[in-house]
Amino acid sequence: MKDKIKIGLIGLGTVGSGVYKTLRSFDNIEIVKIAVRDKNKKRDIENLDESIITDNPYEVVNDPEIQIVAELIGGINPAFDLIKTAVKNGKHIVTANKELLAKHGEELFNVAEANNKVVLYEAAIAGGIPLIMPVKTILAGNKITKIKAILNGTTNYILTKMDMQGSSYDEVLKEAQELGYAESDPTSDVEGFDAAYKITTLATIAFHKRIKFENVYREGITKIRPEDMKAANEMGYKIKLIASAELNENGQADVRVHPMLIRKTQTLAHIDYVTNAVTLSGHPVGDVTLSGPGAGEFPTASSVVGDILAIVSEIGNTDYLLPMMRCRHEENAKSIEISDTENKYYLSMTARNSIGVIGRIGKACEDNNISLASIVQKEVEKDNSARITVITEICKEKDMQNVVNIFKNDPAIISVNSLIRVQL
Ligand code: NAP
Ligand code: HSE
Repeated sequence: MKDKIKIGLIGLGTVGSGVYKTLRSFDNIEIVKIAVRDKNKKRDIENLDESIITDNPYEVVNDPEIQIVAELIGGINPAFDLIKTAVKNGKHIVTANKELLAKHGEELFNVAEANNKVVLYEAAIAGGIPLIMPVKTILAGNKITKIKAILNGTTNYILTKMDMQGSSYDEVLKEAQELGYAESDPTSDVEGFDAAYKITTLATIAFHKRIKFENVYREGITKIRPEDMKAANEMGYKIKLIASAELNENGQADVRVHPMLIRKTQTLAHIDYVTNAVTLSGHPVGDVTLSGPGAGEFPTASSVVGDILAIVSEIGNTDYLLPMMRCRHEENAKSIEISDTENKYYLSMTARNSIGVIGRIGKACEDNNISLASIVQKEVEKDNSARITVITEICKEKDMQNVVNIFKNDPAIISVNSLIRVQL
């Protein structure tokens, strides 16, 4: 009988608890130490062995007995230093930390390779969906050039509940936090940072070129209004927070996160609540869509435990574990600025119900090379204002921003309420 593989956990929150509960049933694994911030916190875990809990995470990374460290605290500090210390001390790493991967992936993987250790991170992108291992192994023969995805469970949960049940934004955000979906600071979810971290790493491994997080365009969902959802529905769309990445023939990457109107005939329009989905387009495979729970205790634990078991199965059998899961690319991708992209747009404005407003809107668009697919003026309000909804044909982002500025300065237009890109 082989010795049990010794594991150290850093973090026993939503994800750490799921990992602890799941790993306990594996006879070949022993959790020997767990680091938390507050040792006195009441934890909803039956038969938790309190004797292995410490509030000093360096006790985990410096423990000579531990072979694999699962970093489940998140953020940059102290997570980054803890992982580097663990690697230098000869431990393999499993992490769910998308922020760290997106911001310091290069250094992290270089340190790991220099010490011949692996860093696996299936849980960091799209929670319970098996994604990293498929991209790095069975899809390795493909040239992937496009990714369209819903990568944040919290925002998808919020948008779905606002849309289907008319729930208020604040109420649903609170629910998502209680369910363990949201980040410790939910600004990361609702302002699109979390999805931007995830698409940075996913596009990097899919395109075999490093994407810089600072080159990823990002908008969140905080400006989406119930009125936009209603208008989108009436026109045959759903509003989703979409993370996308596209590599053009010149090797330039257009990587972004922003809300989008998605046609109800498309799969992503029907990915609801905490579910995530990722469509990868590549040659020779074509389009592959993977979907499943994107956040939460047990779905995320499934990915962390899968990574731990992959390492466990190799320890003692080879000196160079999991070669296909290692970081291989060295080249940085050239990036495209959002202002140089072309999109279709939904624009909502409130205007005075005066003669010629629609004509002026049409003229401003014409002057800026924007063709309109539709323009609708709904009922006039008691204050003599009217809501005008425009959908454009494909046009340049620069031209669209010019037009929005013109409308903002037009005395007949009371407010520009929303500008949301529309799926092509
Ligand atoms: P969480 O519930 O807030 O748990 C964080 C855990 O880390 C807590 O146990 C906390 O201790 C511990 N901790 C924080 N700082 C520490 C420190 N300096 N030293 C020792 N322990 C420390 O967070 P979570 O939702 O589990 O998320 C953990 C990681 O997984 C993050 O990177 C997150 O982005 C990622 N992730 C989360 C999900 C999800 O659905 N929640 C899904 C995928 C990935 P106390 O318990 O004492 O406070
Ligand atoms: N806060 C993240 C989300 C957790 O809602 O998707 C999963 O990464």
